[in-house]
Amino acid sequence: MDQTIILGDCLDVLKTIEIQSIDTVITSPPYNIDIPYSSYKDRKPRDNYIQWLKDISIEIARVLKPNGSYFLNIGSTNVDPWISIDVISSLRDMFVLQNHIIWVKSISVGDDTVGHFKPINSKRFLNQNHESIFHLTLTGDVAIDRLAIGIPFKDKSNISRRNHAQDKRCAGIKPVWLLLELDRNHVQVFRKNLLLGFVLFLIWDRWHAMEIMKNTQVQ
Ligand SMILES: C[S@@+](CC[C@H](N)C(=O)[O-])C[C@H]1O[C@@H](n2cnc3c(N)ncnc32)[C@H](O)[C@@H]1O
Repeated sequence: MDQTIILGDCLDVLKTIEIQSIDTVITSPPYNIDIPYSSYKDRKPRDNYIQWLKDISIEIARVLKPNGSYFLNIGSTNVDPWISIDVISSLRDMFVLQNHIIWVKSISVGDDTVGHFKPINSKRFLNQNHESIFHLTLTGDVAIDRLAIGIPFKDKSNISRRNHAQDKRCAGIKPVWLLLELDRNHVQVFRKNLLLGFVLFLIWDRWHAMEIMKNTQVQ
């Protein structure tokens, strides 16, 4: 498959892209939490930040094909737990929230724990062990293939009991996925698990995908 990498400010680049020409947009924008990127300043006034992501999303709505998908990964912090909710609410008039996927970084069942998270030292907050991935579409009716990233049944009796054609079930309690940070590297997890998952999960004959907000310097 041919790939083209375009370096630039995503808002400028999006404006040059033809209307209804893109199948999928996958983005993990900065979360406005003062991460020291090399040139991007990750601390805008809150309203400006929400408006900035809205302006970008307006362009995404314009370039997406009618059956396209827009995956927006965004996390919150303990001190600003509303931010991802405020961002997604601001897109409500433009997109249908077709699936809300939770990126679970670490989970414990009984005494067993899988995954990693950043430790905190707080008397009032729980650890932030998840982020949101919003699957936005223009119609709410874009076909997906849940079983392309499915997992085998644990209880095999379900296969005959529920008339399943194969030993595969949707990977999570709809629509939650556990995307554990098994290798500790957040960006690697995003690239390896999420990007591959999205590509498998969508049904296309031909597609033009774009990932915006790459880990590159933006002047
Ligand atoms: C949370 S990180 C996402 C990393 C990305 N998912 C990856 O796999 O490399 C956000 C990135 O967005 C970039 N960024 C900030 N403003 C941007 C803009 N206007 N256009 C494109 N990228 C931008 C930042 O430099 C930063 O690398």
